[in-house]
Amino acid sequence: MKNKIKIPLFKLSISDKTKREVINTLDSTWLTTGSQTTKFENKVAKYLGIKQAVAVNSCTAGLQILLSVIGGGTAGKVITSPFTFIGTIEAIILSGSKPVLADINLETLNLDSACVEKKITSKTVAIVPVDIAGLPADYEQFKKISNSCNIPLLSDSAHAIGAKYKKKSIPAHTDASVFSFYSTKNLTCGEGGMIVSKYKELTDIIRTLSLHGIDKSTLKRSKSKSWEYDINHAGFKANMSDLHASVGLGQFSQFEKDQTIRERLAKRYIKNLSSHFEYLSPQKVAPHVGHGWHLFIVRLNLNRLKISRDRFMAEMAKNGVECGLHYQPVFNFNYYKNAFDWSFKDFPNAALAGESVVSLPFYPTLNTSEVDIVTETVQKIIRKFAR
Ligand SMILES: Cc1ncc(COP(=O)(O)O)c(C=O)c1O
Repeated sequence: MKNKIKIPLFKLSISDKTKREVINTLDSTWLTTGSQTTKFENKVAKYLGIKQAVAVNSCTAGLQILLSVIGGGTAGKVITSPFTFIGTIEAIILSGSKPVLADINLETLNLDSACVEKKITSKTVAIVPVDIAGLPADYEQFKKISNSCNIPLLSDSAHAIGAKYKKKSIPAHTDASVFSFYSTKNLTCGEGGMIVSKYKELTDIIRTLSLHGIDKSTLKRSKSKSWEYDINHAGFKANMSDLHASVGLGQFSQFEKDQTIRERLAKRYIKNLSSHFEYLSPQKVAPHVGHGWHLFIVRLNLNRLKISRDRFMAEMAKNGVECGLHYQPVFNFNYYKNAFDWSFKDFPNAALAGESVVSLPFYPTLNTSEVDIVTETVQKIIRKFAR
């Protein structure tokens, strides 16, 4: 008989402050974009140390709007990682650009700057690293490429709200970065995203575009003559609602404490697993990098195991531990493989990562004895199936 899962991959905790914020917003009867959204933007911007932030209804929408401005819908090429959630690629396509994939570094699972350099052409309009699992990409190298080729450096930082690169948040190193506040993210609104940039001119146009291109905010228009506005660009419907912002504001009150817990749990995972690093390894974290710890991903060394990753996950589940897979590389999906003629052979590291990564249970209410159960289970399976 199958064991019941005792340790899930993820558990969400909603604070009492969040419940109060939501009730207060409902009581106010102002549910769409308004003062709560502004408050949430200011809170996140302050935390990141960057002045400009535009809240939207998802990271995917944020990336799409940002890329529509940067790429100008001119069928330019955007270089990114194949080892990401499909939203990254979708946003590039829907913005009117073409995704170009470059391979990843197997130790970090992040876009490899040397592979990116080889893909740059006169048609490249942006480079978009993805901070996978919250581990910042190699921004020093990407900045050099971006400066020398005069190509904007953006980032899909869906996972990386808590990450630091050289002691600064990710948007301090990019022209613009986009974060996700999806339900499982370290800071959640239920659904949501945010575009953050040092450039006010850029965020001003993004703000306008996020609400149909209307040149006055809903809140401003509510004060008088709501029908008086103009539109200078065809926009999107991607504004964040005050209801979602209230969830984010409430959750923010526990976010920094949660980050400390995540870091402690990750350290415990690494310490417990260190005796088995020949069989599986966590992402390599350089000394100048502060991992944002959204996910705890390990890569199995399949040469040293008699079982596949899928069997490994099934064995973990049999022992009551739920694991996850972040991610199947995008060239594995039928539509994308065919539409862009992508082959796993062109991206050997991403292909190998796609076959060998496993995400272990990871969330702030996981306790240290549960981490120990997970790692004992991993070790038991390795002992059984080691080559
Ligand atoms: C790497 C990455 N990029 C983009 C997204 C899309 O985020 P959202 O669901 O907020 O659109 C996700 C979502 O999980 C993600 O993991």
